[in-house]
Order: sequence, then structure tokens, then C-alpha cells
Amino acid sequence: MMFPSSALLSLLLVAVSIVSATPVRREPATLSFVAKVNASGTSNLAEIDRARAQSLLQSVTKGKRDGTVSATTDGVSYTASIGVGTPPTQYTLLIDTGSSNTWVGAAAKYTPTSSSKDTGNTVSVSYGSGSFSGKEYIDTVTLSSSLVIKSQSIGVATNATGFSGVDGILGVGPVDLTSGTVSNTDTVPTVTDNLFSAGTITSDVLGIFFSPAAASDSTGELTFGGTDSSKYTGSINYIPITSTSPASEYWGIDQSITYGSTSILSSTSGIVDTGTTLTLIASDAFSTYQTATGGVMDNATGLLKITSAQYSALKPLDFNIGGNTYTLSPNAQIWPRSLNSDIGGDSSSIYLIVSNLGTKSGGGLDFINGYTFLQRFYSVFDTGNSRVGLATTSHTNDSSN
Ligand SMILES: *[C@@H]1O[C@H](CO)[C@@H](O)[C@H](O)[C@H]1NC(C)=O
Ligand SMILES: *[C@@H]1O[C@H](CO)[C@@H](O)[C@H](O)[C@H]1NC(C)=O
Ligand SMILES: *[C@@H]1O[C@H](CO)[C@@H](O)[C@H](O)[C@H]1NC(C)=O
Ligand SMILES: *[C@@H]1O[C@H](CO)[C@@H](O)[C@H](O)[C@H]1NC(C)=O
Repeated sequence: MMFPSSALLSLLLVAVSIVSATPVRREPATLSFVAKVNASGTSNLAEIDRARAQSLLQSVTKGKRDGTVSATTDGVSYTASIGVGTPPTQYTLLIDTGSSNTWVGAAAKYTPTSSSKDTGNTVSVSYGSGSFSGKEYIDTVTLSSSLVIKSQSIGVATNATGFSGVDGILGVGPVDLTSGTVSNTDTVPTVTDNLFSAGTITSDVLGIFFSPAAASDSTGELTFGGTDSSKYTGSINYIPITSTSPASEYWGIDQSITYGSTSILSSTSGIVDTGTTLTLIASDAFSTYQTATGGVMDNATGLLKITSAQYSALKPLDFNIGGNTYTLSPNAQIWPRSLNSDIGGDSSSIYLIVSNLGTKSGGGLDFINGYTFLQRFYSVFDTGNSRVGLATTSHTNDSSN
């Protein structure tokens, strides 16, 4: 086939612009992930989440910046298949907004390739119920065909405990959480930071969509460099990162919570976190919520259990954030009944997803809006502007639970 010479010229120009030094600015790109429910271990869901909450609180209040967070495969875990090396080897990594080191090697061993460089530094991160230690490498990380990071600093575990069925973590929390984790290194830029500095994405932003867990496997979507307008409704409202520590070290915001006309939690700081399954509130707020709903603590699941009559009488739970109200409807306040057996519950019972953080309010991290909140609202983690965005979705008012 013959091209007119002008068309051939423009094809050549396209080819030249791709290899030129100017970074090619791209549109936001997405990566899908899978959510799995597995609370068949020795701890119940509420205990797992509380352990994470306490380790998030302590890692900062103890003053040791060792990146201590809990990210385990218990509860609900979100994983994506990520390529490392040239050609890429695929690894199944947990997606975690509450930690920021990316590492592999827990299950499948790391396969060094032509792009792998051992930095000679060591890495060590302890999590609430696990840890890993090993060597820090620089390698090419492929999130998707359009999201390739040529030089990403990654951990390679020689020893990992507390991770079953996954190869490591894709840490998408704030970069400061990597401080003190790698020898001779100040902080380790996250994959989002590196995509931004290389010009692959035009803003240092991550948008997250979770589809409601109607089945034990459900998918979600990460959008690097922006948001996916097909996944939310209305507009995104942004809230600055709170100035209150320790919530300020994470994706922390200020909010108050009201149940019907009852105040549950007055304005205070806490975090938005993909690594927490439930919606946790300080113990005094939890006690008010328990009284207001009439829920009874169920030993098997660690969750409040309500009767059908109490469910019919549930009132909206309003999260007042940055001048806007995000409402968990009665249906959004209960655990998906089709998944009761996955968390040690009884298939005919009704369990509430609001749970006890384990410490009273005033600690600087008084709530965690976890997966059960985030599957009803699109979330945006905006490093460039130090803010969190939230928007309604077509699932906000679902009655699928
Ligand atoms: C579920 O969790 C338990 C305990 O942590 C683990 O032994 C088991 O392999 C997990 N199952 C799946 C399917 O991941
Ligand atoms: C692996 O880590 C665990 C927990 O920190 C530790 O108890 C164990 O000694 C380590 N094993 C090796 C071989 O380093
Ligand atoms: C629940 O656990 C508590 C503390 O372990 C115990 O005292 C109580 O009897 C248990 N309740 C039921 C219904 O098993
Ligand atoms: C959800 O339902 C409430 C009450 O009917 C309504 O006010 C609100 O606008 C709905 N939200 C969305 C996102 O559809």
C-alpha cells in the first residue's frame, strides 16, 4: 500500500515525537483489581480491623517512623496483577492506601531480569500482623500497558510473614510512610509519584472505585493521574488533609457523624483507608450508635447484630465532610447478607458494618472510613494538592446488601 508523501511525513513525525525527550502526556489510565472476602482465619473481621487501627495509631504516636501498618490478606483484600522486570513477571499484589512501600517476593519468588538492579540497601516494614524484610531493588514496574515505571524502587522480600496467597503490596499511601524503611534512603517515591514525575500522568492523583461486594469476588478500578467520570455521579468534593496527627500522616480528613437526629461523633479527625473493611468509630461514638440502633454484639463475627424489625427502623448515617453530607443508607449500614458465612456469621442474621475502633475519641484518629464506606462513594487520593475527594456513585443507594 502506498501513502501520499504528506501522510508518510506525518507518520514519521508521530514516530519521532514518541521517541523525543519530551515526555508524552497521557490521559488518566486505569487498572482493575479484584476484591476477595476471607475472614476464615483465627480472628474475626472486627478484631482484624481494630488491630490495623491500633497499629496505624501507634506507628506515629510512638514516634518511630518505621512504616508500621497492618495490611494482611484477612478480611477483604484487594489485589491486582502487576508486572515487574523486563520482560515482566506478573505478581499478585495487595493494593494498600495505608502503606507506601511496593514489594514482591512473599509467595512467588522475585525473578531478576535485565532491568533489575540491586541497590545494595536493605528494606524492612512491619505491619500489624505481619512483616517483611529483604533487599531494595530498582526495576521496571508495569501496572498496565500505558502505566510503565522504568525505575521504581521496590522491596524484594527474603522473609515475609502474615501474607497468604499474595506476593506483596502495591503501596499507594503518602510517601512519608516510607521514611525509615530502606537503609541509606530518606523516602521511597510511590508508583503514583514516579508516574507523575516521569510525565506519564499529568497529576499526582489516584482515583478509586469499588463495586459493592455482592459476590465474594468483585472488581474495582484504580485510575492513576485522575478520575474516571464514568464511575461517579455528580461532582467530586475535595477536603484538605487534616492537620491533626496521627490522621495527618495518612489520607486523613475531618468529619462529624450523625445517626438520624442523634449526634454520634462531633467534628474530629480520622482517615479514609482501603485496607480497613469496616467503618470504625471511636469507642464512645460506637456506644452511642449501638444504643441508637439496638444492636447486640455477636461473638462469632465481632459485629453488632440486629433483628429484622430493627433493620426496618434503621435511620440514615450521615457523614458530614467539608460542608457536604455523605449518607450510608440503612442497607449500606449492613454487611452483605450473601457474604455472612464468609465472616463466620449466620446466613439469616443481619450484621452492622459500623464497628468499634478500640479507643475513645480525642486520639487524633477517631474513625476509619473503610471499604464498606468506599464501596458507596468514589474516592480520590490527591497527593499534589494534599486533599481527598469524594463523590456519589450509581451504587450509593444500592439495596444489594
Ligand atoms: C483465607 O485465610 C486463611 C487464614 O488467613 C488462609 O489460610 C487461607 O488460605 C485463605 N484462603 C484464601 C482462599 O485466600
Ligand atoms: C523472619 O521474620 C520473623 C518476624 O520478624 C522473624 O521472627 C524470623 O526470625 C525471620 N526469619 C529469618 C530467616 O530471618
Ligand atoms: C461472648 O463472649 C464473651 C466474652 O468472651 C462471653 O462472656 C459471653 O458469654 C459470650 N456470649 C455468647 C452469647 O457466647
Ligand atoms: C439517595 O437517596 C436519598 C434518599 O432517597 C436521596 O436524597 C439521595 O439524593 C440519593 N443519592 C444518590 C446519589 O442517588
